Amino acid sequence: MRMTNPRFAIAILAAGKGTRLKSKLPKVLHQIAGRPLLAHVIRAASSIVPASDIFCIIGHEAERVRSEIAPLGTQFIVQREQQGTGHAMMQCREALSAYDHVLVLSGDVPLIRPETIAGVRDFHIAKAAAMTILTAEPPDPFGYGRIVRRRVNGAASDFVDAIVEQKQLTAEQEEICEINSGIYAFNVVELFSRIDQLSTDNPHSEFYLTQIAAILGHDGLPVLARRTAHATEVLGINTRRELAQLDSLLRERKTRELMDNGVTIFKPETVLIDDAVTVGEDTVIEPFVQLLGDTTIGQDCVVRSYSVLTNTRVGDMVRINQGTIADESIIEQSAVIGPYARIRPGSEIGSEAHVGNFVETKKAKLGRGAKANHLTYLGDAEIGEQTNIGAGTITCNYDGVNKNKTVIGAGVFIGSDTTLVAPIRIGDGAYVGASSCITRDVPPDALGLTRPELQIRNGWATEKRKKLEAAKQKK
Ligand code: UD1
Ligand code: CA
Repeated sequence: MRMTNPRFAIAILAAGKGTRLKSKLPKVLHQIAGRPLLAHVIRAASSIVPASDIFCIIGHEAERVRSEIAPLGTQFIVQREQQGTGHAMMQCREALSAYDHVLVLSGDVPLIRPETIAGVRDFHIAKAAAMTILTAEPPDPFGYGRIVRRRVNGAASDFVDAIVEQKQLTAEQEEICEINSGIYAFNVVELFSRIDQLSTDNPHSEFYLTQIAAILGHDGLPVLARRTAHATEVLGINTRRELAQLDSLLRERKTRELMDNGVTIFKPETVLIDDAVTVGEDTVIEPFVQLLGDTTIGQDCVVRSYSVLTNTRVGDMVRINQGTIADESIIEQSAVIGPYARIRPGSEIGSEAHVGNFVETKKAKLGRGAKANHLTYLGDAEIGEQTNIGAGTITCNYDGVNKNKTVIGAGVFIGSDTTLVAPIRIGDGAYVGASSCITRDVPPDALGLTRPELQIRNGWATEKRKKLEAAKQKK
């Protein structure tokens, strides 16, 4: 082993099915705070070693996991049959032969912070350990493997004699509060020279990686525990309840962070903000708002209750009124959206533009100061600056086969209840009269109008009522 700059790899155990989740989706792809469990772990691992030194051990639904996680740039090792955590590590023998040490993380322990992983690494090196185990004392140790520390002169030492799984605990061992986090550092040579000694002599007939602690210790090699004071960080997810708990913990962490950075959040326990979201200073977020995916919100905005924004970029001083739904869109500075607007993918709402109640946009680009305030559908449309779209305007963008484009210039006035049959262009400064069905281009500064002549028949209603009355008497 080289004494200077030891080569570290990180292995992430992620091949299990997650039986206790009762799910078709592999466990490590379940999401908390808008990211798969495994992606959280990789994120932490990536600040310790380059992604090319991270090995994800996948197995159950391996291809599905691989295709979702591949963009993060890690390596993959396939464990074809999932015969336990020890068996998972056996698959890594060859890949890890190029390293001096390996840090082992669990794909289902997602809150782990880089500082804590680095702490394990440094402790492991400083103590020249064969195995270092990250341990903790959570309020409820049930279900976790417990740490049996070696007693030296009557007192517990840093040396570990064994890790005992929940089902194998003796009555006396059930009193042990210190748990195995499933996060370890190993000397690669020591690990792989003894990994074949693991047995399947346990309730699940699996190769438990935890058994290696006793095997190494038995050979007189240093197996050490390093206890973290942050027990929540090493909480694992085996059940849906634990999934919900850790999701809440992460989201609390997120809202606290935003508030510390100058964002007002009222009733923060009611909002749902994903991990990757950013929000600028002095923005106010009302109760029951959801900000999801890669959404970014600028400064001095107001996001009112029940709005749900996904992968949307919002500029400064924007007002998002109640019940706005926005997906994969851009909303520029000082725009006003909603209440009850639906901004569908590919929409670009220009600065100072207004999109009001019951307006749906899809791939629609609204110029600066354009307004569509009521009951309107704008799909595959381009709308120039300061143009006013009247209530009930519909772009007829779909002819049953193709999507066609509507291009409306600047300073245009579209009267209410207009249908614009695409492909169509309305020139700058043009007017379209209310209730028109526009099927040909309207040149700049022209009027487009389709309108049957208005008829007024005096006394018609009186006559009508008389006739109806007479018919009723006859019956
Ligand atoms: C494991 C530990 C336990 C520890 C706990 C911490 C063992 C035997 N027990 O228990 O001491 O307290 O983690 O959270 O290791 N996996 C594979 N291949 C397999 C089996 C599992 O890759 O064949 C992966 C799983 O996907 C999971 C991780 O290993 O990400 C841990 O497996 P899991 O079955 O959840 O172990 P626990 O019962 O939680
Ligand atoms: Ca687990």
